[in-house]
Amino acid sequence: NRRVTVRDLASAKGRGERWPMLTSYDAMSARIFDEAGIPVLLVGDSAANVVYGYDTTVPVSVDELLPLVAAVARSTQRAMVVADLPFGSYEGSPQQALETATRFMKEGRAQAVKLEGGAEVAPQVELLVRAGVPVMAHVGLTPQSVNTLGGFRVQGRGEAADQLLADARAMEDAGAFAVVLEAVPADLGARVTEELGVPTVGIGAGASTDAQVLVWQDMAGLSDWTPKFVKTFTDLRASLRDAAETYAEEVREGSFPEDQHSYSG
Ligand code: KIV
Ligand code: NA
Repeated sequence: NRRVTVRDLASAKGRGERWPMLTSYDAMSARIFDEAGIPVLLVGDSAANVVYGYDTTVPVSVDELLPLVAAVARSTQRAMVVADLPFGSYEGSPQQALETATRFMKEGRAQAVKLEGGAEVAPQVELLVRAGVPVMAHVGLTPQSVNTLGGFRVQGRGEAADQLLADARAMEDAGAFAVVLEAVPADLGARVTEELGVPTVGIGAGASTDAQVLVWQDMAGLSDWTPKFVKTFTDLRASLRDAAETYAEEVREGSFPEDQHSYSG
């Protein structure tokens, strides 16, 4: 029982097979998604929002993400575990990117890393791949750049489409094994998917990308707010609130615990 590899994902594109990817940040969700046959799990810097309570991904650090990567890697057997490189941990130089990626692979036991950006991070991607680190790229809406983008908005509309395609191409040319496209028009998602030889992973990029990714708390209905591109496949927020309210009520009225939950002397 071996893990999913970059070769498996490349050959899936050749066969026209779509694949699902989810985020995971802890042992329990990782085990469940591995059992469910999700081939790729991303320990996203979205942990900034859903684990650590920051309002953007900008503040989260390598030291905060590393233990989450290690937990997901320890708890899975089959999925490829991809570690997101956080803001400030790779942009400075290819050497900086390699030092950060090395920590995620040696201490976190990730099988690949992901970083945000296009042509401007091509030197980073080239060095990582040469050093043996598979890299997933991420173009379009890149949340670490929220302060230069001026908000979370759709990218690649109109004239910006050609630039986005060029950035995706630059990532493939630098050696990236897949490219995430976030919040771009569906027709651009289709165009990039057609033009690239490596798989595209869409999140708000329409139905034509080779793969899809969602933050698991969004797809499971735990999040209190979600962008337009999210579908909620269950309502965990309501079931968890109901469970907490019922538990509280039963404790207050003394109907929990019962004999079956108690030890005899
Ligand atoms: O951090 C994250 O969760 C991501 C995915 C949504 C692509 O980067
Ligand atoms: Na991310």
